[in-house]
Amino acid sequence: MTRQDVEAFCAETRAALEAINSPEALEQFRLTYLVQKGRIRQMLDQLRHVPPEEKPIIGRLLNDLRRTVEAEYAALAERFRQERSRADFDPTLPGRPLPTGSLHPVLQTLDRMVEIFIRMGFAVAHGPDVEDDYHNFEALNFPPDHPARDMQDTFFLKRTDRSGNPLLLRTHTSPVQIRLMESMQPPIRAIMPGRVYRNEAISARSLAEFHQLEGLCIDEHTSFADLKGTMIAFAEQMYGSGIRYRFRPSFFPFTEPSAEMDIECFLCSGKGCRVCKYSGWLEIVGCGMVHPNVLRACGLDPERWQGYAFGFGIERVTMLLAGIDDIRLLYENDLRLLEQF
Ligand code: PHE
Repeated sequence: MTRQDVEAFCAETRAALEAINSPEALEQFRLTYLVQKGRIRQMLDQLRHVPPEEKPIIGRLLNDLRRTVEAEYAALAERFRQERSRADFDPTLPGRPLPTGSLHPVLQTLDRMVEIFIRMGFAVAHGPDVEDDYHNFEALNFPPDHPARDMQDTFFLKRTDRSGNPLLLRTHTSPVQIRLMESMQPPIRAIMPGRVYRNEAISARSLAEFHQLEGLCIDEHTSFADLKGTMIAFAEQMYGSGIRYRFRPSFFPFTEPSAEMDIECFLCSGKGCRVCKYSGWLEIVGCGMVHPNVLRACGLDPERWQGYAFGFGIERVTMLLAGIDDIRLLYENDLRLLEQF
């Protein structure tokens, strides 16, 4: 094998490479020149028979050839690959769907409730999660020895308010009623959704942290009939117009008279089932006429202003709608449950 032979081989190989114009021709080139027993390898094997003084030159020629040919081969292969994928691209195909999340069931319930009350003319207000004793209890007419003021029921913080009472995590959304009446003149018509906290053992029926939706309406001629009408209109929009309901007398320090509203269990149509505890009725809201002491605490004259208030548990409403009997399921973040909403 002389130097001329090798130069001729290099020229021939480069010409063959340049002539390639299709992926098939490229593959043919690879099989002829580049594979283990291909022609370049065969030439390199012949180096053994080259006289020693020629070896470095011929060796360099062949190795340069191999390096450039391999690089060009790779570039060509990439070019053909790109051309093919461009040809395969069909812009008329529908896009691949992206997996989308959805709102948490509790938030979906809240949104629906807020929407219904907004349609009835209520504004939306918010208050702080960290409250003082005055707004959470005192202004709401809780007596000083009320059990809710006990460590057992309320999370108290180390920090204190101006009068030295420990701050606390609000146990209900009712303190936002006080903040509203303090900060604006009636008429007031607002709902106040938010997170509340109770120092309770976690069980199928209760969590230490959950959500409420408070409502407050203060005007010159509001009556218990307005409260009932509002609650009924809400229940019919939330649960369907033929829904049966009842009001039961109840007690809250900040409303007088107070009531709880039940709707007929829509899972068993009142026949009795596990969710309604075989009573046929589901309790959905606590409510009542704002207590004169609460109005006075906010600087309103009870002779002129009256109103009603109500408070829903949002997890409870969600559970009733979805037929879920363990509140913890809502916060386990199990996709098998969440994906159903
Ligand atoms: N704050 C009460 C509770 O947490 C609910 C309620 C609100 C009752 C407004 C009457 C009026 O149980």
